[in-house]
Amino acid sequence: MVYTILLLGLLSLFFYVALASDNSPLQVFCVADPTSQVLVNGLACRNPSMVQANDFFFSGLHMAGNTSNAVGSKVTPVSVAQIPGLNTLGVSMVRIDYAPMGINPPHTHPRATEILIILEGSLEVGFVTSNPNNRLISKVLQKGDVFVFPINLIHFQRNVGNGNVVAIAALSSQNPGVNAIANVVFGAKPDISTDVLAKAFQLDKNIVANIQSKF
Ligand SMILES: *[C@@H]1O[C@H](CO)[C@@H](O)[C@H](O)[C@H]1NC(C)=O
Repeated sequence: MVYTILLLGLLSLFFYVALASDNSPLQVFCVADPTSQVLVNGLACRNPSMVQANDFFFSGLHMAGNTSNAVGSKVTPVSVAQIPGLNTLGVSMVRIDYAPMGINPPHTHPRATEILIILEGSLEVGFVTSNPNNRLISKVLQKGDVFVFPINLIHFQRNVGNGNVVAIAALSSQNPGVNAIANVVFGAKPDISTDVLAKAFQLDKNIVANIQSKF
């Protein structure tokens, strides 16, 4: 009996760990076939004999993203949508540009841990642990510094230098996903009831409606 419980515990631990990032591939590669109508977890594979070097290739990450927007940052993704050869491999990357005073607003990646390196500039980074502690873990990074954002936790970045910041991040999913907190909460379509948000955020309904109108 004790052994059965122990075994079940170990199995559930193993199962949990196995779900912490993308599943392991079951073949050498599975280059995505975006034209396939087959719905699978990930994307259907192309015929391996038709695969070319360009299926594993992306060019353009030397170019700065356009940061002329409300938050002053731009994420340029290189995930399975850009490189079909990433399908089933469990990794991807992004370039992030930040204008002076620019931020990357609080968000989560439902399927990936992120590891980020600063190539240029000075960047404040932070993530917050879940309930009940909600502890902010943050630091100011300089060129060459590396920081990790654990899977699923809300995190953000802010340019605290005088110039632009350039960062590259790797993520443990071919398709990390993004929940931008402000957008999902205040920009839901259709709107989440103003009453719900007013109580949740302890705000006047008019203020909530005003915030909703901005998303
Ligand atoms: C950057 O984005 C802004 C706002 O969308 C646009 O007006 C501007 O032309 C863009 N700049 C470049 C170089 O694409």
